[in-house]
Amino acid sequence: MSNQSSYRCTEPGCAHAPLGQGADGLTCPNGHHFSFAPGTEVPVFASESEGANEYSQENAAEFHDNALRWVFATFQTDEQGLRERLVARIGLKRGDRVLVTGAGAGNDLPYLVHALSGKGEVYAQDIAKEMLLAGVARHQKELAGSGVTLHFSASDATNLPFADGFFDAAYHFGGINLFPDIAKGIAEMNRVVKTGGKIVIGDEGLAPWLVDTELGRMLVNNNALYACAAPMSALPATARAVKLSWELSNCFYVIEFQASTEPLPVNIDVPHLGKRGGTIRSRYFGRMEGVDPALRDSIYKEAERRGMSRVAFLESALRASLGKD
Ligand SMILES: C[S@@+](CC[C@H](N)C(=O)[O-])C[C@H]1O[C@@H](n2cnc3c(N)ncnc32)[C@H](O)[C@@H]1O
Ligand SMILES: [Zn+2]
Repeated sequence: MSNQSSYRCTEPGCAHAPLGQGADGLTCPNGHHFSFAPGTEVPVFASESEGANEYSQENAAEFHDNALRWVFATFQTDEQGLRERLVARIGLKRGDRVLVTGAGAGNDLPYLVHALSGKGEVYAQDIAKEMLLAGVARHQKELAGSGVTLHFSASDATNLPFADGFFDAAYHFGGINLFPDIAKGIAEMNRVVKTGGKIVIGDEGLAPWLVDTELGRMLVNNNALYACAAPMSALPATARAVKLSWELSNCFYVIEFQASTEPLPVNIDVPHLGKRGGTIRSRYFGRMEGVDPALRDSIYKEAERRGMSRVAFLESALRASLGKD
């Protein structure tokens, strides 16, 4: 008998089925198997092939360290201060369970662990095994004994191996501009965070008022990712309490929102008073074929004469024509 894992199947059609844990990996009731990375208990759900990009090459973490040093020197910000400020925006409480997507070599892990005040769980995921395993090597031992449990998976942030509402909060910094489907990446964070839980996402992207400045043009010339706009239209339609701001001299956007899969509380059936009448629903779904404009004008006139809204008059006339009044 295998133990139950907290990870879920990512295969289409498996509806995030629970996974059993064996010696060499995780297996779902339909037989999908996700092996552990050699010598670890890190399940691999998805991973970039070796050398596919800068994050999946040998020494990816060292390469990334250099890139980060450049960012913090350029924007005259210390890494610790920035990461503390970003993590503070999540509003973590002792005992929470938090997801970090595109965790890379785990630079945010110490701050997330600290914010959990001695109790909780952090799940870090990345699609590049080289980055993720560097994160395991750098942080797992150092953070052992913190009272916070760390879990790592090689997986795709746009197809997360977790059940709906599994997390209290989710966090991402620095990689979402390059996700193949940004909306899916955000939708997945929204799916796995419980209703009302906080989601914080940041990446390169100039504030709009910097785009057409010399500094803006120089930054975009230096790295095209600075031309990325904050992906506000990629948020789920159900997102609540959305905030957009910028960090690092207004050159990185930060989006915050509360997860929800509940439709917004909008009553589309409130009748309009006045000439036109109807409701949001009737005006949108009740549109009909074009009619002779002269006939339309006479109908409007007649509605006015009878003191009825246009919609009320039309509905009564149409019902009468069907013998349903
Ligand atoms: C610039 S690094 C940032 C790492 C870390 N968040 C940090 O702040 O130092 C971007 C990371 O996003 C990861 N990434 C890109 N696409 C991803 C995807 N679809 N799923 C998970 N991770 C992804 C890359 O592999 C890389 O490790
Ligand atoms: Zn499965």
